Amino acid sequence: MSTDSNRVIIFDTTLRDGEQSPGASMNLDEKLRIAEMLEELGVDVIEAGFPIASNGDFEAVSGVAKLVKEPIVCALARSGRPDIERAAEALKPARRPRIHTFIATSPLHMKYKLQMEPEEVYQQVVDSVTLARNFTDDVDWSPEDGSRTDHDFLCRVVEAAINAGATCINLPDTVGYAVPEEFAALITMLRDRVPNSDKAIFSAHCHNDLGLAVANSLAAVTAGARQVECTINGLGERAGNAALEEIVMALKTRQDILPYETGINTAVITRISKLVSTITGFSVQPNKAIVGANAFAHEAGIHQDGVLKHAGTYEIMTPESVGLRQSNLVMGKHSGRHAFREKIKDLGYQIGENAVQDAFRRFKDLADKKKDIFDEDIIALIDDEVIRENDRIRFVSLQVICGSVGPQTAELELLVDDDQRKTKASGDGPVDATFNAIKELFPHEATLQLYQVHAVTEGTDAQAEVTVRLEEDGKTVNGQGADTDTLVASARAYVNALNKLLVKREKSAPAALSA
Ligand code: KIV
Ligand code: ZN
Repeated sequence: MSTDSNRVIIFDTTLRDGEQSPGASMNLDEKLRIAEMLEELGVDVIEAGFPIASNGDFEAVSGVAKLVKEPIVCALARSGRPDIERAAEALKPARRPRIHTFIATSPLHMKYKLQMEPEEVYQQVVDSVTLARNFTDDVDWSPEDGSRTDHDFLCRVVEAAINAGATCINLPDTVGYAVPEEFAALITMLRDRVPNSDKAIFSAHCHNDLGLAVANSLAAVTAGARQVECTINGLGERAGNAALEEIVMALKTRQDILPYETGINTAVITRISKLVSTITGFSVQPNKAIVGANAFAHEAGIHQDGVLKHAGTYEIMTPESVGLRQSNLVMGKHSGRHAFREKIKDLGYQIGENAVQDAFRRFKDLADKKKDIFDEDIIALIDDEVIRENDRIRFVSLQVICGSVGPQTAELELLVDDDQRKTKASGDGPVDATFNAIKELFPHEATLQLYQVHAVTEGTDAQAEVTVRLEEDGKTVNGQGADTDTLVASARAYVNALNKLLVKREKSAPAALSA
């Protein structure tokens, strides 16, 4: 594709840069489910991991490479031989493999982080891209901290990378420092000054520290970049990466001044946003653009009146265009297994028969407690069931005594590696008693960092969705749980977080490897 084409390549890095967000770690199954939906969404490239960082990352890259058919599968590597060889190894099953290799080029990073002279860095650029090209024709090269790199040096290294065979030059605003005009000017400068710039696609990789990641990415596109690296829900380290859904919908909605195309099926956006937030435990803020719960809600009477008369008065895009449906009153206690299975399919899930059976049992329990069951209830229930499929610790039952006269006590039953365990614990309030009971049944040192509850739908019988964040030895994990009983949802969320911690303990991801 030439840079003159108006097609923008969507490079999704939810599974790599998104996962670097503290607490957002995902297991292999979860990554595969996201990758499957990324393919349905129509992304062009899936950056599936950083294979040298851990066995988990290696397995993820190789698993995604085996799974997806259409998208290019990309693996990240620093500039050294072991990184690149490991990335190539993980990519072996890929139909369309890409190696993304990088090295820092800003004066600050070269001097303090790499402790290398610019000429040594220059040589590494040539060597790393040349090596990567031995494994694949598709090599993406990034000057880390590119937006704070000296322009003359940046032009030299970009030219060298293209000469060595890089087919894509990705410009990272690693610390989210750039502003749109400046970032666009940087792309223009590179396209104008680098003699072989027409031999590569230029790409933007923007972080959101100043809330400008999407604006910077769009500015880069107007300056000739034809790839954007982004994540679902803007997930990513610190303030996150550019949000895929925002970039794509801006391009779609403002064709008048942004006449660019993507291959994205925007109707999948809401579903994948929900999947990523459920799996990572990072809930989406209600007023988040495109995928927040309020993004299409019109509260003020004057707005509602306008929208009823003509949707265009206050709506610049339709809820349907991002796959948001009307809250459907869907099922009741008399709905059968067949209707339930159809509903699951209709909501876009492909889950195994065991998960369907478990989810159906929980649906029946829910229907006994809650009169009206909406799509959102089914989604919460299925997500809750599916994220637990491989858990070592499983919730069985909880009985809590609480109220204004203490002590509050929790009687809890868990299944730990198929061993049924039961205890009764007290605490300062019912949540504390529940969490103390979990600690008795599965002793651990992790500390609670966050406890958050929100309602899935409206009404006092709504399901509660609870997020719990635990920290152990500097590692954080988020767990989620849903139930009409807030305490049961809390127990499920805590147990889910513990399961993730167990997976994380097995992974070794040295901090120095983070990119
Ligand atoms: O932010 C960054 O600089 C990165 C690079 C590895 C592209 O994530
Ligand atoms: Zn990044």
